Amino acid sequence: MIYFDNSATTFPKPEEVTANTFSFLKTSCANPGRSAHKMSIESSRQVFECRFEIANMFNINDPTDIAFTKNCSEALNIGIFSNLEENDHVITSVLEHNSIIRALEHIKSEKNIEITYLNPDEDMTITDHHIENNIKPNTKMVVLGHANNLVGTFYDIEKIGQITKKYNILFMVDAAQSAGKKNIDVQKMNIDILCAPGHKSLYGFTGTGFIYANEQAKVKPVLYGGTGSFSDDIYQPEIMPDKLETGTLNVVGIKSLLEGIRWINSVGIDIIGAKENALAKYIIRKLIEIEGVTVYTPLNDELAGIVSFNIDGLDSSFVAGVLDLKYDIAVRGGLHCNPLGHRYLGTLESGFIRASLSYFNNMNEADKFISAVKSIKSSSDLNI
Ligand SMILES: Cc1ncc(COP(=O)(O)O)c(C=O)c1O
Repeated sequence: MIYFDNSATTFPKPEEVTANTFSFLKTSCANPGRSAHKMSIESSRQVFECRFEIANMFNINDPTDIAFTKNCSEALNIGIFSNLEENDHVITSVLEHNSIIRALEHIKSEKNIEITYLNPDEDMTITDHHIENNIKPNTKMVVLGHANNLVGTFYDIEKIGQITKKYNILFMVDAAQSAGKKNIDVQKMNIDILCAPGHKSLYGFTGTGFIYANEQAKVKPVLYGGTGSFSDDIYQPEIMPDKLETGTLNVVGIKSLLEGIRWINSVGIDIIGAKENALAKYIIRKLIEIEGVTVYTPLNDELAGIVSFNIDGLDSSFVAGVLDLKYDIAVRGGLHCNPLGHRYLGTLESGFIRASLSYFNNMNEADKFISAVKSIKSSSDLNI
């Protein structure tokens, strides 16, 4: 199988991730922070090290400002629901994932909040001028992705962070499509809340993610219960990360995330990002040459390893199915949990095909993919 569905979750995971995680699972995986025996202590150590490595990767001062979640959606929900109050205004964009849009629209259905949906520039990016032009006296938060999941363009979050800082507005970043492939520095970029999945480009297992929130941002628990700490108290702890980490943690997943981050550090974020960017551009240039193929990803300098396109006249889910069944190539058709982005691009009816790359993809796979698209296109021309 040629796996080009890495924006959904990465595959394969690096050998070091699976081998070291399974070894931990077989020898010392117990419940962290609950008991005082050696295996529990070892499990707590793995959780601590993962928090520490996340802090290092994103230049977070205090690792205890990071709480583990089961995915990026949970992290985004916590960030949004903890901070938006009655009469607040929030700025986001039409290119954001439903885990932002649905959370915002849900609050709007219950509270009087106002949402501004920004349209991107022609190069499918959101920049500081979009933000500055839309700030109101009651603007509480800017909620944006770093790279969008439809076409893989990056936003200049450093410049946006300068604006949110200037106006004292919370800046929440969804790093689902960028963490591990482009540097993020929460201090330099003035990010107040950072959310990321562990299972995509951080190369951990599914069931992992995290939220970081600084002292300006609030975090409210979604679950109440045992944390292994303050056990004489009937109230949920007020401190991070205990406040958010109710119940037994996904220790195996967290260990895999730790190994994923270690692997990324050993290869280098810049090298991973550059490889995916080069491969994405190679595929785009080849697809553009095929008559009757529409490419939606613009040829920006830097892309997050995503190439989106349609074969004109063919349904995207049908093409994704043919690529899978006939050519053994995994891609994603349809709407990618991003209805507003597809509406903006005029592809709400048809969807499109998203080929999303990881460090483990190569030119040879790209060439096979391009020739498969060409064959599907010519078969459709011949009506076969
Ligand atoms: C931009 C973006 N944000 C958030 C998410 C949600 O991530 P998760 O599936 O880990 O909840 C995704 C998932 O594809 C995404 O692409």
